[in-house]
Amino acid sequence: MLKRPKITIVGAGNVGHSAAQWLAAKELGDMVLVDIIEGMPQGKALDLRQAAPIEGYDLTVVGSNGYEETAGSDVVVIVAGIARKPGMSREDLIATNAGIIRSVVEQVMKHSPNAVLIPVTNPLDAMTYLTCKVSGFPPQRVIGQSGALDSTRFRTFIAMEVGVSVEDVHGLVIGAHTDKDMVPLPRFAHVGGVPLSALVSADRITAIVERTRRGGAEIVELLKTGSAFIAPGAAIAQMVEAIVRDKKRLIPACSYLDGQYGERDVCIGVPVVLGAGGRERIVELPLNDQEREAFRKSVAAVREQIALLKL
Ligand code: NAI
Ligand code: 2OP
Repeated sequence: MLKRPKITIVGAGNVGHSAAQWLAAKELGDMVLVDIIEGMPQGKALDLRQAAPIEGYDLTVVGSNGYEETAGSDVVVIVAGIARKPGMSREDLIATNAGIIRSVVEQVMKHSPNAVLIPVTNPLDAMTYLTCKVSGFPPQRVIGQSGALDSTRFRTFIAMEVGVSVEDVHGLVIGAHTDKDMVPLPRFAHVGGVPLSALVSADRITAIVERTRRGGAEIVELLKTGSAFIAPGAAIAQMVEAIVRDKKRLIPACSYLDGQYGERDVCIGVPVVLGAGGRERIVELPLNDQEREAFRKSVAAVREQIALLKL
């Protein structure tokens, strides 16, 4: 008998909740929501189930403050931790979130040794590296969520500029998930096959790139009490869907490099093909000198984040 995929989300706060809602809408599998706050994941799970008859999704959702219910998960999204507030960078979160990630990953590997892990907690590149090291899972099964979100922001701003359907806009962002060192790639962006540079002036492209880099910060400044969660949840769902439906989507994501792009022993955003096995391959782009230099600087910034982990 075929079973539904089992998806665990650790951290049922804003992003975990939003991801669960997008996953349910896509009917991707049975879900377990885990959080340390008593009653909260149970309450959100029940709430989500009660929307099912209206939305028409058939799946189970349970909430828990432990890991027994998560046993045998196919995919585990790790989004537990603190989020930034105005004036904070993602890097300011490192000490607190590293402790949380360690304890979460130890539990996850015990209960779901074959799962694909999707770290989301910030600072994302360092937390993905920590997840790789603590879990010891093969790099194919640890893929951080960064580029799916950064790229959807890039595509949104392009669609707004050109005044066309978002469906026709393609573009990708690689590098670190930080305001300063993210690497949007306008040279590879296109609108319905037309290169971006044929439709938008160089000055406006520079403005779009800058707005993309500060895409998360802009929302933090507006919300004042936390960070973005709706698009982050959708980005997680895009990755989970690619895995559980074996779609072979080409999506930028934070991945462990072992020689690709000339870098070793670091996790950073690169285009990957996502399918049933997790990261099935890394796509190496023909970067020009300027893009290569931006990526190199981005890797150096991530190595500084990783050094703070004192592994
Ligand atoms: P939130 O504060 O709404 O939710 C975090 C949840 O984690 C809370 O409910 C908290 O109780 C829970 N938690 C804390 N320690 C835990 C533990 N040991 N085990 C289980 N649950 C635990 O925060 P939000 O907005 O959901 O953000 C969560 C994280 O995701 C932050 O670090 C944020 O910066 C990051 N983030 C990353 C994005 C990305 O693109 N990679 C996008 C958006 C947020
Ligand atoms: C974002 O980019 C905070 O990383 C999160 O919105």
